[in-house]
Amino acid sequence: MKATAKAHTNIALIKYWGKRDEEKILPMNNSLSLTLDGFYTTTTVTFKEELEEDSFVLNEQVVTGEAFNRVTNFLNLIRQLAGKSDLYANVYSLNAVPTAAGFASSASGFAALAAAATRAIGLNVNEQELSKITRQGSGSACRSIYGGFSEWVKGEETDGSDSYAVPIVPADYWDVRVAAVVLNAEEKGISSRVGMKRTVDTSVFYQGWLDSVSNDLQAIKIGIQERDFEKVGQIAEANCLKMHATTLGANPPFTYWQDTTLNIMQTVQKMRETGIPVYFTIDAGPNVKVLYLPEHEELVEQTLKQADGVTDVILSRAGGGIAYL
Ligand code: PMV
Repeated sequence: MKATAKAHTNIALIKYWGKRDEEKILPMNNSLSLTLDGFYTTTTVTFKEELEEDSFVLNEQVVTGEAFNRVTNFLNLIRQLAGKSDLYANVYSLNAVPTAAGFASSASGFAALAAAATRAIGLNVNEQELSKITRQGSGSACRSIYGGFSEWVKGEETDGSDSYAVPIVPADYWDVRVAAVVLNAEEKGISSRVGMKRTVDTSVFYQGWLDSVSNDLQAIKIGIQERDFEKVGQIAEANCLKMHATTLGANPPFTYWQDTTLNIMQTVQKMRETGIPVYFTIDAGPNVKVLYLPEHEELVEQTLKQADGVTDVILSRAGGGIAYL
């Protein structure tokens, strides 16, 4: 009862920001992302009759506490689906995600865990089912089942049965690249879970965010189909800014940005003024991801590396979906 799976992380171009159900992880809005080949997790799950509890080893270190609880709670769900409630597992994961703060990826982690655990326990699930299961470990992870661009459809049902990701175009449809800019910044103080909840509950800008998402989504999907980089980049950057604006309208207000974050945003905008099409997006932390086309790779990498506060720049292409090894 053993299986190994590999999943890549993804970067949202239309953000998931806010839950309508905390426990089932059901989102307020649809979101859309690009799966990245440079950041992935490989996980082996081994269920054994003789085990009396689960164990979780990540990058050769035994994991305990909150991170371990998230894994066992997620395995409980899979045990329940398989009707095998007293079957425990050893979980062994390797994160090929650069060690810098803010890049530990729950998206690739939960997608790889869901794929390996369902297969190891003998559940026969299709990709849609797998995406739904993965969603309950970490919301954004449900999009990592697919390569290239994918959309998480929020669904309407209260049981979450229609909330899962769908593929838009595969990785080889369009060679869009992403530079992950690692900043000399402190670890984020407010997790995405806490940040989005506070925003939904208190931000005077939250309704404005919700009202604007479907237009962004419709337009970016056309941009992707047409391989219109400027259109896709403009929509992604503006969507990111709107998401982050909601945090300033929350009570108490907060932001994920640091001075170095703003510096990279300005560096990107200045490059654009010189005619290079580059756009940024930022998740629930200080680090910045920059979208660019292959012909500008050298210039983008050099410019970002020279910017103040940059520790590292990691280049990535579009990545594939779940793979079983
Ligand atoms: O799924 P979580 O809890 O890691 O939340 C992700 C939220 C954002 O990264 C900010 C946006 C997104 O869609 O990935």
